[in-house]
Amino acid sequence: MSFETISVLGLGYIGLPTAAMFASKCKKVIGIDVNSTTVDTINSGKIHIVEPELDIIVQKAVNEGYLKATLSPEPADAFLIAVPTPFKTNIDPNKTDPEPDLSYIKLATKAIAPVLRKGNLVILESTSPVGATEQMSEWLALARSDLTFPQQKGESSDIRIAHCPERVLPGHVVREMVENDRVVGGMTPLCSEKAIELYKTFVEGDCVVTNARTAEMAKLTENSCRDVQIAFANELSIICDKLEIDVWELISLANRHPRINILQPGPGVGGHCIAVDPWFIVSRTPEQAKIIKTARLINDAKPKWVIEKVKLAIADFLQDNLNKMVSDITIACYGLAFKPDIDDIRESPALDITKEILQFHKGRVVAVEPNIPEQSPFLAGINLVTFERAEVLADIHVLLVEHMQFKTNKPSSGLMVDTKGIWN
Ligand SMILES: NC(=O)c1ccc[n+]([C@@H]2O[C@H](COP(=O)([O-])OP(=O)(O)OC[C@H]3O[C@@H](n4cnc5c(N)ncnc54)[C@H](O)[C@@H]3O)[C@@H](O)[C@H]2O)c1
Repeated sequence: MSFETISVLGLGYIGLPTAAMFASKCKKVIGIDVNSTTVDTINSGKIHIVEPELDIIVQKAVNEGYLKATLSPEPADAFLIAVPTPFKTNIDPNKTDPEPDLSYIKLATKAIAPVLRKGNLVILESTSPVGATEQMSEWLALARSDLTFPQQKGESSDIRIAHCPERVLPGHVVREMVENDRVVGGMTPLCSEKAIELYKTFVEGDCVVTNARTAEMAKLTENSCRDVQIAFANELSIICDKLEIDVWELISLANRHPRINILQPGPGVGGHCIAVDPWFIVSRTPEQAKIIKTARLINDAKPKWVIEKVKLAIADFLQDNLNKMVSDITIACYGLAFKPDIDDIRESPALDITKEILQFHKGRVVAVEPNIPEQSPFLAGINLVTFERAEVLADIHVLLVEHMQFKTNKPSSGLMVDTKGIWN
């Protein structure tokens, strides 16, 4: 079966650009989402996420009739699933580690099962714990006993199944989706072959074949590797603080070794990937995944350490200004996003730290976030001001994200809590 009609389930940061890429190659693309506002926005030729160049591609694809969005699946030649895979909060008090939540994938499979036809290819793109692709295939087999699946019939199955994780960088998705190499993990070699045939519609990078489990683990490994390396840097920053050593100088010295490349410490790890995906490994192999779990705990504990530093700065300020009270002190937090030069505040340690300061501090708290131009309900009452205003107002400046603006501007007076080492 050639791939003329392609269906993408989940039209978010990953699914929408994927759908748009196929549509830009004159494939008929049916985008499915459970959110009716998202569906309406896309059908009007607009987009609901911030991603450079994507708006132009989507508008053209919709206007020319190659892309349409809808709430319920229709028959297609291939289905790509790009729905969320968060972790769930544990209800068992004896088991505290977060567990992957596959309910979105289950619902997506339930939705496409009735429209599946012999010869269809189903690709799971959502970042998933090892075994999720096989689980998805099981769910489909249960729903469609009239069709055969790779776990039952191997290469001669009616339906082909593969896992192909996505590793694009937000802000560069349009370019990276085309240029990046892809890991293609079919449940059988023929499943991989079919998946590559589909991706080659627009992917110019290499499509590297493996099995579904290894493909799942590859994505989790990439993000866990970053998390472990950041945890090492974060631990170093705490050790250096104790030993009165400048961690930034230390790392730059160590990195002069030709085979050492230590990452930079910070206020913690955020976003919906690096702070989440390592738990998918821990949940499957809790006894074995020792470094991975420890790294998660180190990175999750870093915001609390930053809060302690802010409390120490308050105490220092009061010691130097005996006529002042805590309520006289203004604290400014610089950066709320989870990484530099973006507006995404999902799982952001900078946002959590600012909220916590707002809760315990009796004086005024303001924040500077140049990538969020207006007050938003997600900011939970945090008062946004300009850099210039914060510089004048604040007695204590807490640098949380190394946005471009903060690299070139530094408050001229006041106490600094610099979690990124660019002002000290
Ligand atoms: N955003 C990234 O940078 C990135 C990078 C690599 C991998 N991923 C992975 O890709 C997957 C999707 O992430 P995202 O950032 O695009 O998420 P997102 O939240 O931006 O988008 C998910 C979309 O799926 C929709 N949805 C939820 N349930 C659905 C269902 N049953 N049927 C149809 N649509 C449904 C939601 O309404 C939403 O529009 C996740 O597994 C994520 O870990 C994301």
